[in-house]
Amino acid sequence: MAKVTTSTLDKMKAAGEKFVCITAYDATFARLVSEAGAETILVGDSLGMVLQGHDSTIPVTVDDMAYHTECVCRAQPDSLVIADMPFMSYTTAEQTMANATALMQAGAQMVKMEGGTWLSDSISMLVERGIPVCAHLGLTPQSVNQFGGFKVQGRTPKEAKSILADAVEIQDAGASLLVLECIPSHLATDISAKLDIPVIGIGAGAGTDAQVLVMHDLLGLSEHTARFVENFMDGQATIQSALKAFVEAVKAGTYPREEHSYR
Ligand code: KIV
Ligand code: NA
Repeated sequence: MAKVTTSTLDKMKAAGEKFVCITAYDATFARLVSEAGAETILVGDSLGMVLQGHDSTIPVTVDDMAYHTECVCRAQPDSLVIADMPFMSYTTAEQTMANATALMQAGAQMVKMEGGTWLSDSISMLVERGIPVCAHLGLTPQSVNQFGGFKVQGRTPKEAKSILADAVEIQDAGASLLVLECIPSHLATDISAKLDIPVIGIGAGAGTDAQVLVMHDLLGLSEHTARFVENFMDGQATIQSALKAFVEAVKAGTYPREEHSYR
């Protein structure tokens, strides 16, 4: 695979080719994800749960994210590396700029932030200064306390309408990518069709332009998993072949299936 850029992903969306994202937090797994042919790596703040053992992503700091982003980028993956801006690291303009800079200087090619309309100014500020942004809507885990648990979002017409409006607004603000997490499939399919930018789904059905899973979930290592997770270690002898099986399943359209989706 040649080094993936935002234009690679735009071309794939235009051609109707699905692409893949897998989380990685260190050099070894970043190399395996790249070798498996996943176009993007997410250094997710999910590391707060799967590496640090917290029960949410809220304790994760910018220093944690920068450390793991550096570890991932030392593998020089061909995959485009997206780093999560952690909880409360993008509240003011100055703070947003300084923290996004830290993650880009750690080696990321894009930063990800959870939120919609209220993030528009932050997104355009970063984009104008050369920092590509991935937005994240639906079940945004940094808001777990506001949601009252890890719950599917966008189930009422009012919620669905507001997620769609947020998606349009973040695209207009200049976001390069959008992650949709745990929303009904029909809504995610709708948003993916309406937007020009590629949409990456997780628990959002098969109608998005790409899929992402947390590495530990797809390798069957997590204690509790949501209905959208499939264990790709099943029937595989090595982690390498499990990662390739996930990449191939997304590209072939055999994952996710109806049973992984919300209505
Ligand atoms: O932190 C993470 O791994 C994420 C993905 C689940 C989208 O944000
Ligand atoms: Na995240």
